[in-house]
Amino acid sequence: MKRLKVAVVYNSYEEAQHEAVPGDSSSGHHLRLMIRRMARTLRSLGHDVAIIHLAGDLSSLQRKLNRLRPHVIFNQYDDVVHGALYEMRFAAFIRMLGYPITGSPALALGLSRDKYMALSLMKGAGIPIPASTTLLERVSEVNRHKWHFPLIVHPGQEHAGIGMGRDSVVDTKKALREKVGEVIGAYKQPALVQGFLPGREFNVGILGGRKLRVMPLAEVDYTRLPQGIPPIMSYAAKWVESSVEFKRTRVICPARVEPSLAALINETAIKAFRVIGGWGYGRVDIRLDEDGLPRVLEVNCNPCLDEGIGLARSAERAGIGYPDLLQEVIRAAFDGPPYDIHLPIFTMKPAASPRPKRAKPHPVRRPV
Ligand SMILES: Nc1ncnc2c1ncn2[C@@H]1O[C@H](COP(=O)(O)OP(=O)(O)O)[C@@H](O)[C@H]1O
Ligand SMILES: [Mg+2]
Repeated sequence: MKRLKVAVVYNSYEEAQHEAVPGDSSSGHHLRLMIRRMARTLRSLGHDVAIIHLAGDLSSLQRKLNRLRPHVIFNQYDDVVHGALYEMRFAAFIRMLGYPITGSPALALGLSRDKYMALSLMKGAGIPIPASTTLLERVSEVNRHKWHFPLIVHPGQEHAGIGMGRDSVVDTKKALREKVGEVIGAYKQPALVQGFLPGREFNVGILGGRKLRVMPLAEVDYTRLPQGIPPIMSYAAKWVESSVEFKRTRVICPARVEPSLAALINETAIKAFRVIGGWGYGRVDIRLDEDGLPRVLEVNCNPCLDEGIGLARSAERAGIGYPDLLQEVIRAAFDGPPYDIHLPIFTMKPAASPRPKRAKPHPVRRPV
């Protein structure tokens, strides 16, 4: 690939005046270290890299980009502060300015943050999801359904384990009511309730644009957890290094899976990623049901790209080192992302009057 001007754009959580998401302690320091590692790696590939911190001021970002004129925006905008919809708005904003952007387009980013909507789409497309997947806006709605316990309760629009704890798995209607009330009250969003899948859990790393590649499977191993702690990737298991959950949960990659099951998991993950409209890179979380068959928990568009963990770890097992992974992510941004190819692009110049005639819309080709 030729030498490119790359702008790595990120936002950090510390800019928020207050802690908008209860329980979130993700550190801006770690984030900045990751961004620097990424920039170093991109430079080692010969690219000309600028790091831009987006501190809430879109016009200043626009001015910086206008000066830099990068070939591509390396999207590291990951917003736990402002809420689910900002990620998609950022991607849409960049596309409207006319720059190619890495990862998924706005629509897919929005969908991957609205779990219920995404799961409903997948179900409609015949992709297996957890049984009884239901969205509750009010605690009183608990009484409208017939439940088969155990169930798991999530905040409907979160990610990264936020709102997932020991009491997220419930066995009784009373506990369900309490947890639903807590999610609605504390996170100011509906509660997503699902049948609890008791089987093995896998993370499926995906890389590519028009042509997708699946990375070696990673399995979350809960076998060393003490009794009484539910086997889930809770907030503690993901982030709180001092917790039992963190210490006793590990990821095995590559996972030991018989080839026919691995093929079924991979096929399910690819379908789910396509249905959501994911692009470039992603990670699909899958769990087996009581019959040992895979069901999709969620599609993560633009998952963490840090070195040595998650997608990068799976890619390494496939012989794709960190520099090659980042290069592939950039390559996919030029590989004709769906939906927005023919978007009219706004420039900084004020619109000339009279208003130009609207262009005839082009047919959108979906590269499935
Ligand atoms: N229906 C389910 N059955 C069993 N475990 C689940 C289910 N839904 C979620 N989990 C557990 O909770 C974790 C977090 O849920 P997930 O939907 O992946 O949200 P997040 O965005 O927080 O990663 C999963 O990794 C899994 O361990
Ligand atoms: Mg997940």
